[in-house]
Amino acid sequence: MDPRSEVLLRQPELFQGDLLLAGLPADDLLGQLPRAQGWSWHAGEHNRLETRFAGRCQFGTRAPERHFDGAVLFLPKSRELTDYLLQALATRLAGRALYLVGEKRGGIERAAKQLSAFGKPRKLDSARHCQLWQVTIENAPAAPDLHALAQRFELQLADGPLQVLSLPGVFSHGRLDRGSALLLEHLDNLPPGHLLDFGCGAGVLGATLKRRYPQSQVSMLDVDAFAVESSRLTLAANGLDAEVIAGDGIDAAPTGLAAIISNPPFHTGVHTDYQASEHLLRQAARHLDKGGELRLVANSFLKYPPLIEQHLGPCTLLNEGDGFRIYNAHRR
Ligand SMILES: C[S@@+](CC[C@H](N)C(=O)[O-])C[C@H]1O[C@@H](n2cnc3c(N)ncnc32)[C@H](O)[C@@H]1O
Repeated sequence: MDPRSEVLLRQPELFQGDLLLAGLPADDLLGQLPRAQGWSWHAGEHNRLETRFAGRCQFGTRAPERHFDGAVLFLPKSRELTDYLLQALATRLAGRALYLVGEKRGGIERAAKQLSAFGKPRKLDSARHCQLWQVTIENAPAAPDLHALAQRFELQLADGPLQVLSLPGVFSHGRLDRGSALLLEHLDNLPPGHLLDFGCGAGVLGATLKRRYPQSQVSMLDVDAFAVESSRLTLAANGLDAEVIAGDGIDAAPTGLAAIISNPPFHTGVHTDYQASEHLLRQAARHLDKGGELRLVANSFLKYPPLIEQHLGPCTLLNEGDGFRIYNAHRR
């Protein structure tokens, strides 16, 4: 059981009604709270919850439409995303309770201050390195306009300007990551055929690929609903069309690919997590055609080449700079 769920279950009498669990972990909490429903924006956790508790968890960037007696928000990492989620929940909960639970090292103490916009927050519990807060919604805010919260920036690329739109909580919100910037300079001479941007975030790489290789089918995949929606906004802002997939890991990607392009993930929440990236390196060959290429950027300290060589083929260092390296390898 996730420690945040354990903290909720120390006072189960508070959570027996029609409760919405927003950003819930993929544990047994829905089993312990039979009238609760989940709202997840993480495709992997959503799938795991749906497998165990069919029909009880909704995926997406917007709260489920139905009535709830109260809601719990599991604190996400980004402050802007927390703002959006608190508003999206509070707008629906006039006179009812909104709870916020999170790890101390995830910044729950600071985030609890954001509750004062809606009423008088109270700390209900502190245990398992987590805190649980509650506010009764006295000042219900207007429903937030998610697209109005998108940050827009323009990249001056060799083949013209590219508009990028990123929603709250998306990787490198409102600016270009230095690793992605380096990879953008190394997108030449990709093999013809179906291209995948794995972990597409706001869609910088995938949109650039579609514009540079208009004849190629381009797919973009991310585990996070806000990233998927950002990628769609970025494509639309540039008049481009590509497939955008919400899925967890390379297993959710198409097969028969000519190339996989990626700035792969290495952070989830407050924890560092290389699992999705290592799984990508192990499984890329299954998704690539013979001769297909994996091209990625990684922090120089990450030891990816041995894994790439073991599972795909000889790994070449195409360039390095600013603490990042560009690698490629072809399926034998
Ligand atoms: C380093 S960011 C790169 C984002 C974007 N490509 C760019 O260059 O700005 C990695 C992305 O991988 C996504 N991600 C994390 N875990 C994933 C998983 N298991 N499956 C698919 N995408 C994942 C994250 O949501 C994030 O958007």
